[in-house]
Amino acid sequence: MPDTADIIKSWQVRFDKILPGYLPESRQTPPLLRDAMLYSATAGGKRIRPMFVYASGRALNLDERSLDSIAVAIELIHTYSLIHDDLPSMDDDDLRRGQLSCHRQFDEATAILAGDALQALAFEILADSDRLSRQPRQQLEIIRGLARACGASGMAGGQVLDLASLGKEISQQELEDIHAFKTGALIQVSTVAPAILASATAEQNDSLSRYGRATGLAFQVFDDLLDVTGSSDVTGKPSQADAARSKPAFPAIIGIEKSIQRSHELRDQALAELQHLPGETDTLEWLAAYAVDRDR
Ligand code: IPE
Ligand code: IPE
Ligand code: MG
Ligand code: MG
Ligand code: MG
Repeated sequence: MPDTADIIKSWQVRFDKILPGYLPESRQTPPLLRDAMLYSATAGGKRIRPMFVYASGRALNLDERSLDSIAVAIELIHTYSLIHDDLPSMDDDDLRRGQLSCHRQFDEATAILAGDALQALAFEILADSDRLSRQPRQQLEIIRGLARACGASGMAGGQVLDLASLGKEISQQELEDIHAFKTGALIQVSTVAPAILASATAEQNDSLSRYGRATGLAFQVFDDLLDVTGSSDVTGKPSQADAARSKPAFPAIIGIEKSIQRSHELRDQALAELQHLPGETDTLEWLAAYAVDRDR
């Protein structure tokens, strides 16, 4: 039996191999736009959202390959969100995934448009998927779920609240709400989409939804911690950036120790949801632990 970490590693390696095949062919796309999309998408992120998709699928006895289009679509949405997050009008960061952020490598207009095109491509991939088209009702529900998770009441909405909070004093609860929108929603849909595809029971669906919600929030709490305690060489993005722009973040609001405690509490909430799933939950357990104990 391979070790759980080896299973995740093999998923990551396979994911990085298949991802470029989903990007547009050069004859159909202006080379500059294609280059910018590829530059950001293949820069070597952790691929944690695709890992949540595969891990949730494993817990439901789904074949990993049946989830590729979902995993890729979610990672492309995430990559688009990072490109826009770094723009001068948003977090104004120059470094991402260990290389110049998209607008610094190319230019601002190209970065905005690469983000737009990645977002549209994600939905095209879901609509085109032969595997998903065999279950049209589930396919539509997954598309709707992803649209909600990245739209006004998900990631984009959360980013608006995040930027509106600059320089303000907000409560821990308000910050958790922002984090749940801007980061939690996309992680939550990563664990729920496989349940939709598997036509899982309501109980299984709710467990994976609560697991995704808790892990997603924990993941962003830990991202806030890494901004303070991490090293830019390892995270591949600037350090101390939240404090530099007076952004309310967990360590600033409740301190480092309490932030670590809160992330552990959320991890434990997530782990408690894994009782009634039909398949192996080892990778979901591993990912919940990793979300709050990582160096990048
Ligand atoms: C960074 O996400 C932005 C957040 C939502 C916290 P990741 O930490 O998953 O970034 P990559 O994909 O590994 O670069
Ligand atoms: C990112 O939050 C949330 C997104 C929706 C991209 P951050 O702004 O904290 O992410 P990093 O630290 O720049 O990766
Ligand atoms: Mg941000
Ligand atoms: Mg940022
Ligand atoms: Mg951050």
